[in-house]
Amino acid sequence: MTRALTVLGIETSCDETAAAVVRLHTSGSVEILAEKVHTQLEEHAPYLGVVPEIAARAHAELVDATVRAAMAEAAMDYTGLDGVAATSGPGLIGGVLVGMMTGKAVAQAAGRPFIAVNHLEGHALSPRLTLDCPFPYLLLLVSGGHCQFLEVQGLGAYRRLGSTIDDAAGEAFDKTAKLLGLGFPGGPAVERIARSGDPKAVDFPRPLLNRPGLDMSFAGLKTAVARAAAAAPQSEARMADICASFQAAIVDVLVEKSRRALEGFEPGDGLPKRFVVAGGVAANSAIREGLQSVVNDAGAVLMAPPGRHCTDNAAMIALVGAERLAAGLESEAGDLGAGARPRWPLDEAAAKSDPAYITGRRGAKA
Ligand code: KG4
Ligand code: ZN
Repeated sequence: MTRALTVLGIETSCDETAAAVVRLHTSGSVEILAEKVHTQLEEHAPYLGVVPEIAARAHAELVDATVRAAMAEAAMDYTGLDGVAATSGPGLIGGVLVGMMTGKAVAQAAGRPFIAVNHLEGHALSPRLTLDCPFPYLLLLVSGGHCQFLEVQGLGAYRRLGSTIDDAAGEAFDKTAKLLGLGFPGGPAVERIARSGDPKAVDFPRPLLNRPGLDMSFAGLKTAVARAAAAAPQSEARMADICASFQAAIVDVLVEKSRRALEGFEPGDGLPKRFVVAGGVAANSAIREGLQSVVNDAGAVLMAPPGRHCTDNAAMIALVGAERLAAGLESEAGDLGAGARPRWPLDEAAAKSDPAYITGRRGAKA
């Protein structure tokens, strides 16, 4: 790489419409020239969850203005770009198509390559936007759509160590909140109410905790919460106990699996063990405290990107585009022929050897 590369990134795979401009310098340092994000919370809140059709329409309405605003903030026109990157999967297909078509159109008009980016690769590289986070590192990605452990070995080299086999942890928070009538998104509400509850009051299951490996399962917790909520008269104290006990179950699973992931991670060459946690659920203080203590015990370093890069954002997509361009992984023509992929495992080899991850509901989260 002989000069800095400037890339526009577009993210529309779930309920955030986002655009960002990122410059990757020859030194490897990253400069964020602009970041714009519109979170569609209001659009989806009445339905207590993300409605794909509503998301796709909202992306279509918002994406042009979001891209324009990012370019204005970066104070540049399209010819100043070296490439245009857009999330091309995995995600809700209507939204992904909106972002990709916009990205391809801008790339064509500017005569620059289009880079089809795997959303999970964006999350995997997100700490590198602002933190000094050289390869390799462990990543726990824990959000409403994903829950997995990845070993990030280098650009394009990701090993999936384990993943949820059904719901993501954030989804479990959201479903619990929905059952208890706490609104959407559920995580912050459950955490708030849990503060006054007894985490030992209800003995919720810790799915897959005693099985070897790093796979997780959270779908059963929802049923257990429903049973607990139905079993006793509803009172504020009971609600707090259920929330605290549910949260404790999630903390136990994430902490134990993280302990195992750290145990098996050898960065080599006397390098420090870096453990990155990203995703909306990482905002939960009980989870943070649990992870901090397990990371300390392992003599590792916990790194958490700032909140705006933990959740879905376009800067991470632009960074993947820039790093791929810099590494010569993109052809001159780019990925104009690429299609949108509702499922796109980051570690294709692992997905092929265990096809359970690429079929049915499991695929999107794997
Ligand atoms: O990363 P994110 O903003 O979006 C994606 O899912 O991609 O994560 C949102 C998820 C939601 O499920 C939300 O309930 C959860 O993160 N969340 C939390 C907390 N804040 C957000 N879960 C537990 N505790 C929190 N404080
Ligand atoms: Zn995401």
